Amino acid sequence: MPTLSVSGPQLDDGSHQIDLLLRSVVDYAIYMLDVDGYVRSWNTGGERIKGYSSDEIIGRHVSSFYTPEDIAAGAPARGLEVARNDGRFEAEGWRVRKDGSRFRAHVVIDPIVQDGEVVGFAKITRDITERYEAQQALEEARRTLAHSQKLEAVGKLTLGLAHDFNNLLTVVINSLDLIARRPSADERTRRMVETALRASERGAVLTRQLLAFGRGQMLAPERSSIDLLITRSMELYRRAAGSEVSLVVEVEAGLPDVEVDRAQFEAAVLNLVSNSRDAMRQGGRITLSARLVHRADPTRPDSVSCDYVSVSVRDEGHGIPVEIQERVFEPFFTTKEVGRGSGLGLSQVFGFAAQSGGFATLESWPGQGTTVSICLPPMSAIDA
Ligand SMILES: Nc1ncnc2c1ncn2[C@@H]1O[C@H](COP(=O)(O)OP(=O)(O)O)[C@@H](O)[C@H]1O
Ligand SMILES: [Mg+2]
Repeated sequence: MPTLSVSGPQLDDGSHQIDLLLRSVVDYAIYMLDVDGYVRSWNTGGERIKGYSSDEIIGRHVSSFYTPEDIAAGAPARGLEVARNDGRFEAEGWRVRKDGSRFRAHVVIDPIVQDGEVVGFAKITRDITERYEAQQALEEARRTLAHSQKLEAVGKLTLGLAHDFNNLLTVVINSLDLIARRPSADERTRRMVETALRASERGAVLTRQLLAFGRGQMLAPERSSIDLLITRSMELYRRAAGSEVSLVVEVEAGLPDVEVDRAQFEAAVLNLVSNSRDAMRQGGRITLSARLVHRADPTRPDSVSCDYVSVSVRDEGHGIPVEIQERVFEPFFTTKEVGRGSGLGLSQVFGFAAQSGGFATLESWPGQGTTVSICLPPMSAIDA
């Protein structure tokens, strides 16, 4: 706050002193309102914080400082009412400057009483935007930290369990394979073994997801052609799509290579195809496509548009309700019944894309379908 450098005889006059004091305060808007809420006096702080000169604001109503939402909710009159009845009103909220920008304000209103009657109001407003924003940033950092600590703990636990589980499943699958091959096995036994095998394979996919999550997706990237990546796993994707759903593949010719962990790429596309199948119980079509796109990374606000190889899985399923679209990437978020969903599919997809130097996007239209795209940075012909 600036120091007053005025001294001498002028200061002896009481009202002049107060006038000087008010004019010198620049960090607080201090002003008077009449009983109906019209501005009667103004100070330097008011001009600095709210942008109006005294000529512009004196005579205007106090609601000029409020947001349209607050005006609609009757906030300006209520503030004065509380001050009149309780002897004081104090609040924090958003206010509007002359140029239309908003600031966080701490407001105190006191009634001015003369001969037992309220003749006006004294209002003091402080701009606390900086403090407010710092508090919000701190709160956000605290939330992020707590979240990442929780994820790390879950990750460690998951990794341990998934390893053991993986070993057990290998034994189960090998034994089932051997049973299925025995010449003595009758048709019924073979069918049961087949069902058991399918369930174990689902379990194997799940443990793969858990391992990827627990390791924080440690990748072993290799230069690969998209065409090859897709064709080598086509059988797996077809099986995942099931017999009710058709799987159409559209790969643009001449796509540049990408550098990815092949097993994780396969797992990511498999996760997307499985999700699409789950969303189309009544059948339909899944389109797996790859093409070159030119766009900016939506997860980085300062990124510029550039080329990406986009691998998309599109379906005609029930889509994702708008209110949960934000949450579906969270690890363990699932809307499926126990035993059907782990909630790790999309988090693997988004984690894989980011760790491969790209990003993933999800678009969903409830009732019409969903498209998830994995955008990977292309390797140029001269990249080693
Ligand atoms: N293609 C899709 N269509 C409709 N909903 C989907 C689709 N993909 C994902 N979802 C929704 O997102 C949730 C999380 O997906 P995911 O991370 O793969 O976990 P999971 O499939 O194990 O539930 C699903 O439970 C589902 O509600
Ligand atoms: Mg899934």
